[in-house]
Amino acid sequence: MAQKKKATKKTTKASAKKAPAKKAAKKVVAKTKATKSTKPKAAEKKSAKETNEPVLPNVSRSRGTPQTPRGMKDLLPQEQRYWQFVRQTAENLAQAYGFDRIDTPILESTALFMRSVGVQTDVVEKEMFSFIDRGGDNVSLRPEGTAPVARAYINHGMLNQPQPVKMYYMGPMFRYERPQQGRFRQHHQFGVEIFGDDNPVLDAEVAMLAHLFYKEIGISSVVHINSLGCPDCRPTYREELVNYYRPKRAHLCDDCKRRLAKNPLRLLDCKAEGCAALRDEAPQIVDSLDDACKEHLMQVLEYLDDLMVPYVLNPHLVRGFDYYTRTVFELLPEDGEGKGALGGGGRYDNLIEQLGGRETPACGFGLGLERAILQMKAQEVEPPDTNTPDVFVAQLGDSARRKAFTLFEELRNAGIKIAGNFTKNALKAQLEIANRLGAKYTVILGQQEVIDETILVRDMESGMQEIVDYKKAVNELIKKIQKS
Ligand code: HAM
Repeated sequence: MAQKKKATKKTTKASAKKAPAKKAAKKVVAKTKATKSTKPKAAEKKSAKETNEPVLPNVSRSRGTPQTPRGMKDLLPQEQRYWQFVRQTAENLAQAYGFDRIDTPILESTALFMRSVGVQTDVVEKEMFSFIDRGGDNVSLRPEGTAPVARAYINHGMLNQPQPVKMYYMGPMFRYERPQQGRFRQHHQFGVEIFGDDNPVLDAEVAMLAHLFYKEIGISSVVHINSLGCPDCRPTYREELVNYYRPKRAHLCDDCKRRLAKNPLRLLDCKAEGCAALRDEAPQIVDSLDDACKEHLMQVLEYLDDLMVPYVLNPHLVRGFDYYTRTVFELLPEDGEGKGALGGGGRYDNLIEQLGGRETPACGFGLGLERAILQMKAQEVEPPDTNTPDVFVAQLGDSARRKAFTLFEELRNAGIKIAGNFTKNALKAQLEIANRLGAKYTVILGQQEVIDETILVRDMESGMQEIVDYKKAVNELIKKIQKS
């Protein structure tokens, strides 16, 4: 009872403060709920609304094993060598360029994304996993990483640190999209954000880093770049665009008819046939940029030239979030194959202020790790083999097994890449595993070896076996591995 009261009070307080945001948040929640397959009865719905208790499905009649939610997948052990490689590459690169890691919660207040990504964007309007938690707060699984990192920058007073503040992150993002090749409801991003400096060299640095990440994992990419201007010059362009499209409204798709009133810039990246045809004649934003924005863009391009980053000036690139100012860019595979961008980013000089902080220019990018891995597979790029053991430890019998444990640890401590299987008793089965893992040597310990204080070292390629004194095992194996 006490809990219920507290929740009601909290909701009232929130509604008094931010009425319009709450109204829109309700809309987001209502949409998300409607898509659920397990529909609660009306009475259940009502009581859930009153108490903020989650509506649990009736599982008594459920059959079969639950599956991952649609559009989400398990990252299986056999996939992990790709994941380990892309994550490690990202981490090494970010640290080499002076970025510090930040991890923010996966769950954030829905208002954060409404105030940053924008209420009228597809991500906030249609794609967020939003719900009311047990305390009555409207929360969302993060659909992207920039807004949470910007929030953290303000919350932790990072403005008082030496600027620019450079941070990177890696982790899952959630968007309720129609799943298809390269598009998931849970995907993972590697992102970087730089706060506190508006120098165009930083726009070039982040675009270059995104390109470099792909280069390091063996994928050639091209940066598509544009400028969206600033709040001073963008309204003029917006008006020009509306004037161009209004007489052609009948030829637009339904989404674009809606966008024309709310978010006309998004008309430029609509893939529908009719809209794409009209786009070629549409006015281009570069012609409407004010002098400062034009100069900023020119400098970014010059730096990209200096850094030898391949780019295309793409006047139709607008990106899907409201927070961008000036530079926006996306990375596409050089061969143009595959669905969707490999990454995207840009400058967002007003976001920190919009979220209640002091005026702080910023820029960054987010790269889709699933798409990176899909590209690697499509182009048959293999991650380096880091898991193949040098030595497999095999044992026969109880006393040998005990000794094998000790040997395993001694070899591991000596820095040897090691594997073993202590549950199999037959040597044949253990040698098969060693072969499958690609071990260079198998160390065999049987009852006789325990008595003689020796080990048997088998070269897995030649099949030759050699008896080695147990005390010399570590050094002998190190020598063999170094030679091979
Ligand atoms: P974004 O373009 O929405 O930008 O996402 C970044 C990248 O994440 C995309 O280019 C794509 O590679 C990947 N991605 C996005 N949605 C999906 C999905 N449903 N399935 C698979 N991969 C996906 C942002 O999120 C911005 N926060 C980037 C940024 C950082 N801008 C400035 N700083």
